[in-house]
This record gives sequence, C-alpha cells and structure tokens, in this order.
Amino acid sequence: MNPRDLSDHVAYQAGRGIEEVARELGRDPSTFVKLASNENPHGPSPAATEAITETAASVNAYPKAAHADLTAAIADQWDVTDAQIWLANGGDGAIDYLHRATLEPGDSILVPEPGFAYYGMSARFHHGEVATYPLSKADEFTQDAEMVLDHYDGERIVWLTSPHNPSGSTIPRSELEYLAEETGEETLLVVDEAYGEFADTASAVTLIEGRDGYDARDDVAVLRTFSKAYGLAGLRLGYAIVPDEWADAYTRVNTPFAASELACRAGLAAIEDDEHVAFTVETAKEARERMRTEIEAPVWPSDGNFVLVEVGDASAVSQALEERGVIVRDCSSFGLPGCIRVTCGTIDQTELAIETINGVLANRDAEVGNR
Ligand SMILES: Cc1ncc(COP(=O)(O)O)c(C=O)c1O
Repeated sequence: MNPRDLSDHVAYQAGRGIEEVARELGRDPSTFVKLASNENPHGPSPAATEAITETAASVNAYPKAAHADLTAAIADQWDVTDAQIWLANGGDGAIDYLHRATLEPGDSILVPEPGFAYYGMSARFHHGEVATYPLSKADEFTQDAEMVLDHYDGERIVWLTSPHNPSGSTIPRSELEYLAEETGEETLLVVDEAYGEFADTASAVTLIEGRDGYDARDDVAVLRTFSKAYGLAGLRLGYAIVPDEWADAYTRVNTPFAASELACRAGLAAIEDDEHVAFTVETAKEARERMRTEIEAPVWPSDGNFVLVEVGDASAVSQALEERGVIVRDCSSFGLPGCIRVTCGTIDQTELAIETINGVLANRDAEVGNR
C-alpha cells in the first residue's frame, strides 16, 4: 500500500530558521538574525499578543464568533460583502480554496517563473497541471499583460504576484484589466497581494468592485495575508477576496475551522492597530531603500518588505553570511542561483545585514584578486 504517484510533487523550501542554522554551526541561536522569510521584524501588534493570551484558556472550544467578527472587519476594511471574504489557514490556505473551487482534474494554472512555489504545489494536490510564464532578470522582472498572454493557453487560473516574490516588482491595474479582458471567460485572474501593504499601488480589489473608473469584474480575485505586515505568520491567517458571484462556493470548499480562534482573535486585534502596520510599512520602506543604495552589488527596486540582490554564487554567499550570523534566502530554489533575497529588518538588523553582505562580497572579491 503506497501513497498516490507524487513524483511530480516537490517539497516546499522555506527560508532557513535560526534554530536549524545554529544547530548546524554549533552556535548560540541568540547570535543570529533571520532575514530569510519576509517576516515582520517588529513582531505582532501588542494588541494581538494580548488577544492571544486572553484566548489561550478557551482553546478547548471550536472557533465560532471570532470567525464571523473578523470576516466582517475585513469586509469593512475593503468595503465588500462578508461573503466575498474567504478566510483561510494562511494565504496558502486561500490558494488551496481557490484551486478547490476552480480546478477539475487535468485543468491547468499559469504561474510566474521565478515565483512563489506553493501555487504549483497546491494545483498538483488538486489534480491540476502547471504552466509558467517567465519574468526576466534582464528586464528587471517587469510584469505586463502581453508577456503573460504570450504564454497563456486557456488556463483556469492565471496567478499574478504583486509585489512579486522574490523580486518585488508590481503589475499596474491597467495591465491586469487588459489581461482579464484578453483571457477566456473561464479564466480567473488571481492577484496575490501578500506584500500589498508595502506597495504604493492600489489593490486589485478595485477591479473586482469596479472602482476608480474600472468596470466591475467577476473574473478577478485577490489574495491577502496576516503573515507579513501584520506580523502573524506563526498563526496562519489569510484570505481571498472574491467577486460577489463566487461567494457561495466558500462553504463548499472551506475546511471546517481552518482559521483558528487564536488566529481570528489576533487578526481582529491586529486589523484595528493601524499604527503598528504603518510603522512596519514605514520601516520596511526605509530598509529597502538603504539596502538598495548601500549594498555594494546590484539590488532590484522592490515594493515588498525584501530586496533581491545579485551576488554571483548565492549558495556560497548565503553560507558565508550564515557563518557571520545573518540568515538570508538563497534564491537557487527559485531558479535564481545568482541571487539572495534579504528581508527588511529593524534599523539595527538592516545595518548589520548591509555591513555583513558588503564584508562577504569584499572578501570574496579579494580572494579572487589574490588568485
Ligand atoms: C507571494 C506569496 N504569497 C502567499 C504567501 C503565503 O503566505 P501565508 O501562507 O503565510 O499567508 C507567501 C508567503 O511567503 C508569499 O510570499
């Protein structure tokens, strides 16, 4: 007796954690800074921490009211109906729900390459297939409708990531509208805005709702998460915003109680703490600007809470950085073996990252020069 044929499936490669690296190097975990998973370096909102503590004693009960309260608060934030919010176990859970709701066995999705690995993994879990459109390093990872359409072949979902992971590039709403117009009637465009808070561009929710001069659409959905700007990655809370026409499908694809009571209470508290989000976004913008100007290697402009840096041999440079206490993301698994991705840290962490990266690159260049 064996599992089904999983040979097409790959394991998700997360950013390396402090404990893992410290254990490998036989060092004290407190001597490391982790800038590998685009987490909020300031932690969660204190109000969220308080909500978690207050809820701790009642986790014997299944989630009830908080789920509805949070859905209503999110719907209010976006000015959509409660039924348009598909609350899930992280953005990853929302990706699963959208695939459950759309894919028949053998249907395909179209995803960016390089890009976020879970789109393809999830589609395969749901017996779907995966096609890609390339984003090019030489072209600064620019995203536009034509380059997606060049590779489009009637897929059921086209995934856009804006800001894009790992480059930080965005796609304008006019391009999204054109893409939605040009793709078939049975194609859903999903705009993954996991890093949306860090960008100055307006959300694609305006396309769903027909605001800012756009016509309302039933073929665009948006993905958001509490893992990044809200600092709740460990709790697993995210959601999709879908057109009104899709609302009914949620109850049919939702895993019961997938968003926990702790997550919902913390999410509710976090959504009300505008100050914490504003502070997080402001410091991330400062950090990415500093990294772009002070790292002595090419750094792509980014609208996310991270930057992509060209370092030559990403694996060697990431390892050298780890030995010096800074954990970054080696982008080889994204198909970018020359690049590392560095999360925006606190002021001190960012300073340390810049100094350490410059030190490692200078050392390497000196070694090459001495040969
Ligand atoms: C582009 C993108 N989308 C979605 C996610 C999923 O986030 P989560 O499941 O933590 O909400 C991530 C996580 O890193 C991401 O980078």
